Amino acid sequence: MRGRCSSCSYRRGLPSSTLRHYFRLRHIPGPPLVGFSKWWLASSARRGRMHLDLYEAIEKYGPDLPFTRVGPQDIITGDPVFLRQIVNTHSLYQRSDWYTAMRFDPTRDNILSLRDDEMHTKHRAKLAPGYSGRDVGHLEPRVDRNILELINLLDRDYVSKGRVFDFGRKAQYFTMDVIADVAFGQAFGFVASDSDMYDYIGLLEKLMPTLIMNQVFPWVVDVMADAESEILVQVLAGSDTTATATAIRATTLHVITSPRVETRLRAEIAAAGVASRPWNTVISDAEARRLPYLQAVVKEGLRIFPPAVGLGSKSVPPAGDTYRGDAEEFRPERWLQAEGGKLREMEATLDLVFGTGRWQCLGRNVALMELNKIFVELLRRFELVVMKPGEPWHSRSAGLFTQNEFWLKGYRRG
Ligand code: HEM
Repeated sequence: MRGRCSSCSYRRGLPSSTLRHYFRLRHIPGPPLVGFSKWWLASSARRGRMHLDLYEAIEKYGPDLPFTRVGPQDIITGDPVFLRQIVNTHSLYQRSDWYTAMRFDPTRDNILSLRDDEMHTKHRAKLAPGYSGRDVGHLEPRVDRNILELINLLDRDYVSKGRVFDFGRKAQYFTMDVIADVAFGQAFGFVASDSDMYDYIGLLEKLMPTLIMNQVFPWVVDVMADAESEILVQVLAGSDTTATATAIRATTLHVITSPRVETRLRAEIAAAGVASRPWNTVISDAEARRLPYLQAVVKEGLRIFPPAVGLGSKSVPPAGDTYRGDAEEFRPERWLQAEGGKLREMEATLDLVFGTGRWQCLGRNVALMELNKIFVELLRRFELVVMKPGEPWHSRSAGLFTQNEFWLKGYRRG
């Protein structure tokens, strides 16, 4: 988890001159010249290497230090304890101007751009019931029917015809349709038409670096104003589904390239009697939550490949903090072996993937429901083979991931 990466942005006193910014944080190590300009960050976003560059910066410049500097006023940390303190309900940290870029309509804030705590809390309280997964009667059948739609598409048009498919795209068609179905009672129809309707996802992929550039240089939003705001609203709408699609793709890739994990997961699914159920049924969320190895796989997927890795900067109150973290291997067993305080600490660290406290992801329950079901339903019907093991996918991150060219071939089981 360490370094993959959340951050905080130093904002005390806000001196305006570049030199003063430079001197204020000069004791914190980081890549050359980051103290003078934001080009290092901007270039990382443009090259789609944000997740790797932030991680490598911590590894190179501060493996044993609490902070690494990546911009004139931007410092990052990989310490989960410190990260939790930042997003804690009672923490004095505020959203920094990184979030200004989320205000796509320059005259109006939305849940992601609101920096004023009181207003954000009020707005969040209003929205929360609509996002709640607790109303499972309403939510679950919609997730289920979209899962079946995806399974049927893969089976009918690809598996039974021996054709390869880009699972990068299919996963996003699925998550887009689920959100539309939950929000409007009807899927957009990406899976049904098996196409990137209106070139939406293509546009999203092209514009993601622009969005992140705006977060690196928040003032650009004001300059772009009306001309771009409509387009950027679309990027925002796509970001939630992008995060969930990333979790589906990354976990699928790790499972089907780890024979030990795949075998154990299939055995658990078979032992639960799910493998032999009729084709048009989907495992219930409650049942999926009772499969311990599946739960460990879902957690491990989110741990090893956190889908949202942008800066998400928070402004620092007057104080300082500590750090620590670990682990590189995709090994779901770690979640079954840990106990007591250690397990609680791991769970709390994992929660950071969705943010915690007052900024926690409102779509967490929806996303987890999708993850609880999708791997079971894919694995119980198909063997999935990675077509290009040397370069399994095209994966880039400017904060959120764009992933395509993830070519798989499926074979029907049993
Ligand atoms: C695995 C999938 C997902 C991940 C990893 C994820 C991650 C996150 C993170 C880290 C934040 C906090 C940003 C911050 O600190 O300011 C967030 C916020 C948010 N997410 Fe998600 N998300 C996911 C899926 C979704 C889905 C499916 C939805 C919609 C149904 C959604 C809706 C939201 C909303 C509305 C917020 C803003 C909350 C607020 O500002 O109070 N997310 N998400």
